[in-house]
Amino acid sequence: MTRRINKAVFPVAGLGSRFLPATKASPKEMLPVVDKPLIQYAVEEAAAAGITDMIFVTGRNKRAIEDHFDSVPELEAALQAKGRADLLDLVHGVLPAGCRCIYLRQAEPLGLGHAVLCAQPVVGEEPFAVLLADDLMVSTPPATAQLAAGFEREGCSILAVEDVPREQTGSYGIVSPSGATGAGDEMLPIGHIVEKPAPAQAPSTLGVIGRYVLTPAIFPLLAAAQPGRGGEIQLTDGIAALLGRERVLAMKVKGRRYDCGSKLGYLMATMDLGLAHQEVGAAFSDYLRRRGA
Ligand code: UTP
Repeated sequence: MTRRINKAVFPVAGLGSRFLPATKASPKEMLPVVDKPLIQYAVEEAAAAGITDMIFVTGRNKRAIEDHFDSVPELEAALQAKGRADLLDLVHGVLPAGCRCIYLRQAEPLGLGHAVLCAQPVVGEEPFAVLLADDLMVSTPPATAQLAAGFEREGCSILAVEDVPREQTGSYGIVSPSGATGAGDEMLPIGHIVEKPAPAQAPSTLGVIGRYVLTPAIFPLLAAAQPGRGGEIQLTDGIAALLGRERVLAMKVKGRRYDCGSKLGYLMATMDLGLAHQEVGAAFSDYLRRRGA
């Protein structure tokens, strides 16, 4: 099996119910942080890891994502006529050079595991990355590049994890490492994984975040998985089955994660990326200082 990751899967067929009513008719992944939609941050992150095939698993109300990555001749002609080469460059750069988009449909939101399984016909027998665009990662090197480099070294599935507060384990897949885990280890072999355990039952506080590199061995296990928590086919259950067959590692990726699927995380991302923004950062910082924030 190749150790290069060429394909990324973006499951974008969820309901986004935590962000209603904004997500009633438009996808959560199109929410902008300052001036770019979440899905574009994720695609740029995948491209920075050398990935060329962007595979979107879409559902109802997700057409805006396809439109976003398409070219728009009338917009380009209008910008050209106005001599706005700067904006034209922005529009051309939405899809990173050398990348192509492939769209698949998940007819019903039957869970993240089911969404990943929908990508099997396009992924085939290759290792692949999964990016959940609502987890916005700000890191150098980019989080997916850290995982891809780990895969090149280790040749096995790797899940990005971070230490989460114990009272929040019920919002994450939680892994328990097997074997010695010397302090500061960035890669840990996983012994067990459990979906959204109550704090008292959580085997650790290492929560899986929205970045994965998986081997194609996950597909038959997802196909055989029974609906679990919430009647959905959980990716966690597929990974739990994979643990019985292959080595799976957890990587503490370096960088900052914003949970933009939640209103608070989204506001934090908007604040931090707004302050760091080349065009508006200084003025935004002035504004906050003046209003005493
Ligand atoms: P979430 O758990 O964040 O679910 O899914 P959600 O439906 O998008 O949002 P809430 O919880 O209702 O607010 C994690 C990721 O898996 C995708 C989502 O689009 C999101 O990127 N997903 C989830 C699917 O593609 N299909 C599904 O059936 C479920």
